[in-house]
Amino acid sequence: PVLVVDFGAQYAQLIARRVREAGVYSEIVPHDATAADIAAKNPVGIILTGGPSSVYEEGAPRLDPDVLELGVPTLGICYGFQVMAQTLGGRVANTGLREYGATDAVITGDGGVLLGGQPSEQNVWMSHGDQVAEAPEGFTVLAKTGATEVAAFSNDEKRLYGVQWHPEVKHSDYGQRVIENFLHRAAGLPADWNSGNVIAEQVERIREQVGDARVISALSGGVDSAVSTALVHKAIGDQLTAVFVDHGLLRKGEREQVEQDYVASTGVRLITVDAADTFLGHLAGVTDPEEKRKIIGREFIRAFEKVQRELVDEAKAEGAPIKFLVQGTLYPDVVESGGGTGTANIKSHHNVGGLPDDLDFDLIEPLRTLFKDEVRAIGRELGIPEAIVGRQPFPGPGLGIRIIGEVTRDRLEILRDADAIAREELSTAGLDGEIWQCPVVLLADVRSVGVQGDGRTYGHPIVLRPVSSEDAMTADWTRLPYDVLSKISNRITNEVREVNRVVLDVTSKPPGTIEWE
Ligand code: XMP
Repeated sequence: PVLVVDFGAQYAQLIARRVREAGVYSEIVPHDATAADIAAKNPVGIILTGGPSSVYEEGAPRLDPDVLELGVPTLGICYGFQVMAQTLGGRVANTGLREYGATDAVITGDGGVLLGGQPSEQNVWMSHGDQVAEAPEGFTVLAKTGATEVAAFSNDEKRLYGVQWHPEVKHSDYGQRVIENFLHRAAGLPADWNSGNVIAEQVERIREQVGDARVISALSGGVDSAVSTALVHKAIGDQLTAVFVDHGLLRKGEREQVEQDYVASTGVRLITVDAADTFLGHLAGVTDPEEKRKIIGREFIRAFEKVQRELVDEAKAEGAPIKFLVQGTLYPDVVESGGGTGTANIKSHHNVGGLPDDLDFDLIEPLRTLFKDEVRAIGRELGIPEAIVGRQPFPGPGLGIRIIGEVTRDRLEILRDADAIAREELSTAGLDGEIWQCPVVLLADVRSVGVQGDGRTYGHPIVLRPVSSEDAMTADWTRLPYDVLSKISNRITNEVREVNRVVLDVTSKPPGTIEWE
């Protein structure tokens, strides 16, 4: 792989994705990895990321100097560029000239391998206080800006390169070209990594891992479990059984999508557990959000365990034990829990909607090295319908935490109708890519007076909660076009009974969470 050495900014994952977009497989390692750790991974290229520190600061993250002696082509970006300069005897200074945001870079000389053939002036995205005042010996300066004479450099003999700006962000006009030049020209790496060979490789690996054993998978209806299940199915066919729990808190059409479209396109053997009565029975009279979540989580486990027991009995009768559980863990989860060195945990709640961690299974996690957009690409390649692959995040507890107040069948029906209209109009307006998700919430215990036709109404408000986000940790409310909002509002108040008002949630996260409960 190309190793992305993370100096602690939020850019490492973005850089790793850009490298993969260029057709080269990448992995992230922490900056305190030693040269030996790094060498053990047989890197074909190394990228040192930006970071929030100044190289002079006490405790600033350092690079094991031997990393630059490994003979592996290395690109330093921003802080990584300064670390490279400092480690090799150049000079990094704080001149008081800062650059933040769009900046003009001027290529000096022919631009070398990194910048050659590009316009001699280009817009680049900067974010730095310190700068490289003097390149190390043996390095050629490739670009400058108003604030710094050394904005990019290279040492072709040692195959070391650096840029002060952030080529990974889209605001740098030729950013992706810089990354591609480093990968393809400087490091000589072919662009041969894509979703097609990920599938082939995973299929091979899963077959090896599983042998004759049987496997189960919990399908939630979300993207990750849909793709990981389909991938495992491609590898081992009917040794896999997928279990889908219908808790009665799904959105309109969701169950049909899974039972019909998903099964038709993948051929997965599916068991649906019809648990709506049980769930709604236990939710009767409950209004506290945490209590709702606990009940839903607990009932999910019960439903799953019940099928599990049946399947285990059936498997025993056939003499092939169920040994494995498929889990849709993604690369960001792995990176955030310690860079892929930790052992796999079942992140119950998070990934399969509430599986306990004492389930006695080995895990199959075919998406462990992948980012969300790559998972979607693989899902498309596997023929999973767009309605599932393109789906926005939806919480495990479903509509149960989008009805503020008690959850009843009647209220679920109202919310389902309103939600379907909002989703349809947002898709029609082509806004799916712009919003992270748009919870639609029913304020079931609130009523307000309205007028419709010639009569007075006394109905419930529906809240639209469109948010934009990178990772759901923070979010901002999405500025949707007024005409789209107006269309949604008109349709919901006209078509959904008992709703006479549509309101827009304009709170960021923090202080609001994305969901209302
Ligand atoms: P909040 O409301 O905490 O949500 O800002 C952050 C993201 O997580 C989703 N979410 C859940 N997903 N089980 C899940 O699988 C849950 O219990 C759950 N609660 C919230 C939410 O939709 C958003 O994307």
